[in-house]
Amino acid sequence: MKIMFVCLGNICRSPTAHAIAQKRAVEQGLTYISFSSSGTSGYHVGEHPDKRAIAHGAQHGYDLSRLTAQRLTQDDFYEQDLLLTMDDQNYQDVLAMKPADATAIVKRLLDYHPDPELTQVPDPYYGGNAGFDTVVAICETAIDAMLDQIDNKQR
Ligand code: 4NP
Repeated sequence: MKIMFVCLGNICRSPTAHAIAQKRAVEQGLTYISFSSSGTSGYHVGEHPDKRAIAHGAQHGYDLSRLTAQRLTQDDFYEQDLLLTMDDQNYQDVLAMKPADATAIVKRLLDYHPDPELTQVPDPYYGGNAGFDTVVAICETAIDAMLDQIDNKQR
């Protein structure tokens, strides 16, 4: 099973989610799931994540330092099983790109979050450091719930 997290730049939110999911899946022995991330824009293709995202991820035990930004492609709609977007704009942008015969399912990551009022992972790019900790916390909760749900279905 292949899951890709999608945000705008692929340097803040989706690499954070990617690193969290990868670590959690290893800890839980969910070896049948592989993770990746991408951006709907090409602004930062080839770059490592934002220094603040790397630093705040590291403080919480997640290694983003080796990830490299890539742009979401048409192929991803066939090669991935699940595309998980971070905010409403990403969701609309991904749906607008989705081919009619796509096999990937497009959802919001926060569809898995237990707080139904939380529907978007706020973009931390133009804000302060606290925004990066918020991204980690929201993603951890949603990803734990998602992995529980996926693993329950496999049993
Ligand atoms: P991300 O954050 O989508 O979480 O990676 C952003 C990164 C870059 C830009 C915007 C948001 N930007 O405008 O360059």
